[in-house]
Amino acid sequence: MAKRRSIYACTECGAQSPRWLGRCPQCGSWSTLVEEVESSPSRAAEFVTPSPGATAGKAVALRDVAGGGAPRIPTGIGELDRVLGGGLVPGAVVLLGGEPGIGKSTLALQLAASLVTPRAARTGDAPNTARGLSVLYVSGEESAEQIRLRAERLPEMPENLRVLAETRAEAIAEPWRETKPALVLVDSIQTLQTERVESAAGSVAQVRECAALLATAAKATQTAVVLVGHVTKDGGLAGPRVLEHLVDVVLFFEGDRGHSYRVLRAVKNRFGSTLEVGVFSMGDAGLVAVENPSELFLAERRTGTPGSCVVPLLEGTRPILLEVQALVAPASYGTARRTAIGFDEGRLALLLAVLARRGNIDALASDVYLNATGGVRISEPAADLGVVLAVASSRLDLPIPADAAAIGEVGLGGEVRRVARLEPRVKEAARLGFRRILVPRASAIAMPGAELVPIDGVAEAVAWLLAQSRGDLPKRA
Ligand code: TYD
Ligand code: MG
Repeated sequence: MAKRRSIYACTECGAQSPRWLGRCPQCGSWSTLVEEVESSPSRAAEFVTPSPGATAGKAVALRDVAGGGAPRIPTGIGELDRVLGGGLVPGAVVLLGGEPGIGKSTLALQLAASLVTPRAARTGDAPNTARGLSVLYVSGEESAEQIRLRAERLPEMPENLRVLAETRAEAIAEPWRETKPALVLVDSIQTLQTERVESAAGSVAQVRECAALLATAAKATQTAVVLVGHVTKDGGLAGPRVLEHLVDVVLFFEGDRGHSYRVLRAVKNRFGSTLEVGVFSMGDAGLVAVENPSELFLAERRTGTPGSCVVPLLEGTRPILLEVQALVAPASYGTARRTAIGFDEGRLALLLAVLARRGNIDALASDVYLNATGGVRISEPAADLGVVLAVASSRLDLPIPADAAAIGEVGLGGEVRRVARLEPRVKEAARLGFRRILVPRASAIAMPGAELVPIDGVAEAVAWLLAQSRGDLPKRA
């Protein structure tokens, strides 16, 4: 038996070193190197027999490579297909990451259910979707009974879904060969363990080795594989970064657990764009695709209340309308408080200073609270003008007209700057019945059915707000 060597791997970036070091030479993190027993390189050779016709080890001329893009398996879940770029690619490995409790297992099960359930043939469907595809669902977190309980809550119970409650990677090989699945789901990669590595489940070495094993098997059998992975507090995938290099697609499932709204985002996609996002809402019967997120976010809006402004943002390539709420209240103690939910507090402080100096609305000595409704996190500067207007509206106690929305980045000089891709935002606002849309003057466009109000700066926006409220007062005869 060959002598086994110990190596040390960084838990942050996966870099390896023959001896222990206090600091990772690759990523510079301290005390992240842990000991691993090096595994044999011939992994997965016997895991699954390769499909005939596999061209391993042979170089081919590009012209002899079948073109036309890989045939995809549409998942039947529109929002998921959108993010994947049209469906699952056979042989590709997808990593589905997200915080615990966000709904990864639910999404995975719904994906499995959708593929297993026979569908009326549609153009673009994989050949045998009419009979339902074979799917293997491997869970190291839940027992088969628990999965059944979960499946029973779905609108249609996927009776033909094969489930396997297993944590040993090698034990997947047999059912894999037997059921010849189109898709193998593993929930989660951190619970899986292979005999080839001696460290504990969830360790860098285990996660990497198991993922590599499954990736090899996926390629060999042309099976799509979805790996569920937990993320750490700071948003990184638990386990090594190398996992991201090993897989073809990395999806992140995000959202606020206090709200039902969830966003699925592609961070990496070898087969499609990373711009698209999928929007879901978590309900009693699992996740429901939200085709009109704006309507969801604006559903609870109370019009006529000061401090509320609607902003059209972009999620990927999709415009989404959101409500920004501000509350300006007298400060009770010496220092004024700034609290922002779903918005950067530093940016809020900056906008308050600009509003005071350039817009003549002084909220610097007051407490200011800001809230992006729906549990959404605003990261776009395009929301600046809406935030400024919401604060001004609360400070002046003047409601912003119900049919108005605002788009624009605010600079330190109080100027309203242009934003990327104005047109889809304006279109979405107009579609939802917003008739007056404040836009940066520099990028004003013509839009039938909506009145675009070109705005130069913060002072002009405040003047507009004051003029609206005067116009809304009952006319004196
Ligand atoms: P889950 O998919 O188990 O999350 P993860 O695998 O990412 O840890 O979902 C967990 C939460 O979703 C749980 O708190 C309950 C909630 N949930 C619903 O609200 N409705 C449902 O139909 C299901 C299945 C879960
Ligand atoms: Mg889970």
